[in-house]
Amino acid sequence: MLKGRHLIDPKDFSIEELESILELAEEIINNQGDFKNLCDEKILGTLFYEPSTRTRFSFEAAMIRLGGRVIGFAEPGSSSVMKGESIPDTIRTVASYVDIIAMRHPKEGAPKYASYYSSVPIINAGDGGHQHPTQTLTDLLTIKEVKGRLSNLTIGLCGDLKFGRTVHSLIKAMSRYEGVKFVLISPNELQIPEYIRTEVLTNKGIPFMEIERLEEVMDSLDILYMTRVQKERFFNEADYIRLKDSYILDRDKLKLAKDDLSILHPFPRVNEISYEIDEDPRACYFDQLKYGMYVRMALIAKLLGVA
Ligand code: CP
Repeated sequence: MLKGRHLIDPKDFSIEELESILELAEEIINNQGDFKNLCDEKILGTLFYEPSTRTRFSFEAAMIRLGGRVIGFAEPGSSSVMKGESIPDTIRTVASYVDIIAMRHPKEGAPKYASYYSSVPIINAGDGGHQHPTQTLTDLLTIKEVKGRLSNLTIGLCGDLKFGRTVHSLIKAMSRYEGVKFVLISPNELQIPEYIRTEVLTNKGIPFMEIERLEEVMDSLDILYMTRVQKERFFNEADYIRLKDSYILDRDKLKLAKDDLSILHPFPRVNEISYEIDEDPRACYFDQLKYGMYVRMALIAKLLGVA
C-alpha cells in the first residue's frame, strides 16, 4: 500500500511496489484518456530550492494531466525562505495547502528532514549529490520499455559517479534485480562514494568493476548510462575544468558497441554525448525524459491512493 507514504530513497519501496508504479505508468501510456480526471480537486506543491527543467516540468505536467493543480516555487528567492524561514516551518505551511509535495534541495537529507514535519507525502526530487528516486523510476521504466526486462543486464555508468545522485539511486535500485552487473567508468577523482561500493555492492555480492577507459568495456554493455560532470558540486573550478570533458561519446566510440546497446542520460547534457549520436537508434534519452512524466503520474496517483 503506497497511499500516504513518502519517497525519499529508491529502497523505501519494495521491488513489488516499484513494479506496481511501473505497471501503472504503462497503463497510463496506453490509455491516457482514462486518467485525466484522476486527481480532480488535488494539489501538488513543488518546492525547488535548486534549478530543474525535467523534474519540475514533468511533475507539473503529470499533475495537470491527471486533472489536478500545482502551486510552488522554482527557486526559493520568491518565498519566505529568503527571510530565514526554516524547512520545518515551510513544510508545515505548504502541507496545510496541498495534498502532496515534490521537493528538490541542494543539501543531502533535506527532503528526509522535511518528511518528519509533513502531514502529506514528500517526494524527494533530488537532494544534493545524494539520491534522485524519481529519476530512478524514470530510468527503470525506460529500461523496461527498451529492453523488455530489468534483470540480466550489464549496465555501464559513465562520468561523474561521485556526485551523480541519479547514478547512486540507479545502482541502489538495479542491484536488487537478478543477473545485473555494473561497469563503473570514471576518472579516479569521480569514483562512486565508498558507501555505495561497500554497502550496496560489495556486501551484497553484486558484481561490479571500476575502470577509467570507456573504450575498453564498450562492447560488453547492454546499457550505457552517461552523466554530466556537475560544475555546481565542485569546490575548485580548476578541478572541474580538468575533468569536465573526461568522456565524450561520439560515433567512433559507438562503433565499438553492441547493435542493441541502449544509451541513457538523465540530462541536462553538456558535452558528454555528441549531438551526432542523437539520430542513432541506440540513443534512448529523449524517450527517457518523456517516460519521466508518465512515471510521475503513476507515482502521484499511488501516493494519493487514487489508483
Ligand atoms: N534529470 C534531471 O533531474 O533533470 P533536471 O535537473 O532538469 O530536473
